[in-house]
Amino acid sequence: MTAELLNGRELSDQLKEEMKQEVELLKQKDIHPHLTVILVGDNPASKSYVKGKEKACAVTGISSDLIELPGSVSEEELLQVIENQNNDKHVHGILVQLPLPDHIDEQKVIHAITPLKDVDGFHPINIGKLVNGEETFLPCTPFGILTMLESKNIDIEGKHAVIIGRSNIVGKPMGLLLLERNATVTYCHSRTKNLREMASEADILVVAMGRQHAVDGSYVKEGAVVIDVGINRMDNGKLTGDVDFESAKEKASYITPVPRGVGPMTITMLLKNTIKAAKGLSE
Ligand code: GUN
Repeated sequence: MTAELLNGRELSDQLKEEMKQEVELLKQKDIHPHLTVILVGDNPASKSYVKGKEKACAVTGISSDLIELPGSVSEEELLQVIENQNNDKHVHGILVQLPLPDHIDEQKVIHAITPLKDVDGFHPINIGKLVNGEETFLPCTPFGILTMLESKNIDIEGKHAVIIGRSNIVGKPMGLLLLERNATVTYCHSRTKNLREMASEADILVVAMGRQHAVDGSYVKEGAVVIDVGINRMDNGKLTGDVDFESAKEKASYITPVPRGVGPMTITMLLKNTIKAAKGLSE
């Protein structure tokens, strides 16, 4: 079997076109969706992600501000900046780009963003709602993956989903979302024994390990759907995923490429969440 491509770039472009019209309609009602992005320090990868987010906002007519703070900023100053944004009624979404410098407590910062503007879906209140199956902001990467699966009418109910990776941002919420849609979910991680054996049981395999080509075709069951969340830069400067695409695509029914797979969808879901916040739908 040679897999069909799940093209995140193409789907993103389509969704952004739809959102552009939605934003236009909101503006006619005098609602002007606005996202504030806070970037601390000068991590090149973070800078590049933030630039992508700003550009995507501009394309859809969402206004955005970038607040750049030096890596030496104190936790207290950062919390004050967030509080100002919480209280600004023109701001609908607040995103603090992670990771933060070591002297700042990431969880404290996430807690400080009002859940009503938490377009990343990282606040414990929003994660709690996700666990309960209540309406909330969904974390952007898992939300993007779900949207890709739905765009191809891929069955989730009753399927065995294996998630490799247990981060708060991707792995954990991904499993919850699939469970909510009646998948049987297995979480795997760096201490999992027999990873290959576990992965090859999956109907839907989500790989978020952060290790280049950690999973190849021998981990993939014939006909499985393979979702690659990894973004790794190779020695030649090109981007590649956690999955060895060439061997995995021979076994999978659907597979995401890297780049142009999950990455563009993550940003697009941030726009969706910002529009949702502007409409006041998360309450
Ligand atoms: N760093 C890597 N991914 C993300 C994300 O989705 N949101 C934020 N805020 N920071 C990140």
